[in-house]
Amino acid sequence: MSNETSFETFLGQQNEEAWASALATLLRSIHEVDRTATQIWFAFYPLSLFSALRDADDRDQLVQQLLLQGDYELKDQIDRSHRFLYGHRFWPQIRKAVAAHADSFAESAHTSLPDQIFTVARAVAQQSKTDESLLVGITAVAFMTVQQTGLDAFKAAPGTIGIDKKHAKKSPEQILRDRAKVDSQGLLGFLKTVNKQFTVTHDENDNQANYKLNEGQDLAWGAAEDRSRDWVAIDPRRMEGPIPVECRSASCGTCWVGVVGGAERLSDVGVREGKKIKEFGYIDSVEPKPLIRLACQALAQGAVSVVIPPWNGQFGKYLKSLKRDQSEHVSPIREAPSEAPRKETLN
Ligand code: FES
Repeated sequence: MSNETSFETFLGQQNEEAWASALATLLRSIHEVDRTATQIWFAFYPLSLFSALRDADDRDQLVQQLLLQGDYELKDQIDRSHRFLYGHRFWPQIRKAVAAHADSFAESAHTSLPDQIFTVARAVAQQSKTDESLLVGITAVAFMTVQQTGLDAFKAAPGTIGIDKKHAKKSPEQILRDRAKVDSQGLLGFLKTVNKQFTVTHDENDNQANYKLNEGQDLAWGAAEDRSRDWVAIDPRRMEGPIPVECRSASCGTCWVGVVGGAERLSDVGVREGKKIKEFGYIDSVEPKPLIRLACQALAQGAVSVVIPPWNGQFGKYLKSLKRDQSEHVSPIREAPSEAPRKETLN
């Protein structure tokens, strides 16, 4: 890129490892309301996938090979990809401050990635008289957005907030209290014979965005009962309620969700879910209750709050093979995703 700014050059030098290390440093300083949400956002928009698509000889072919569906590119959602972060409320100020930071960036004087993020978050916190911890996550998101979209596109985005005034006024404590709420099962709720029902919230900024499911049902099962809206009109992948699903057997990766609240109230990750979620590329974790789950496999044991990513695909095995081949300095062997779902074999 000939017109690349020195800030973009700096960001271009930050690889996945650099970002993982920066996030580990930043997380300690991110308010609880956004600590998990920030990690979910970084899982939703992986730098490694962005780089693989950018560098592909035939991008369209790779998109097909990785079975990518939906809005997987940040450039199409600069202002809204982070709507589920509390810090989204400060997006106009953060966007302006990051753009100003980029314009005044002097390569020779730059500090580390986390230090730059702290500096911008601190400046906005002082200007807007806000707790800095509420701005660190959204500032990191803004930096990564510039890296993936370029500074011009970042600056050209309208910089608007995508939530209504009523929700924008909620305090972080109110949101944490809502996430901690337990569904009342009525006076006889303690009896084993009572069919317990739990609430799944899938957009904390919309009072209607929730559905009920019975104890032990998976998140996707409960979602299929929700016919309150024309879900397909909202997202063509949502053919059976608010959560996109296809196979219901941990084979396609369509139903991945981020769990912002109540992860401890879901069943532990089973062997198949754990294996497939890594193969899809969504999360590489041995945690029994990680922040990314396959909705068709996670069974409800209480109320949860989830975020639905606007896309899905199968890229874990491909990116691993790419990394392996790059480290060996040979041309990549492009592995096809395992169990690539064929529409006619699903359901
Ligand atoms: S619906 Fe296919 S993995 Fe869950």
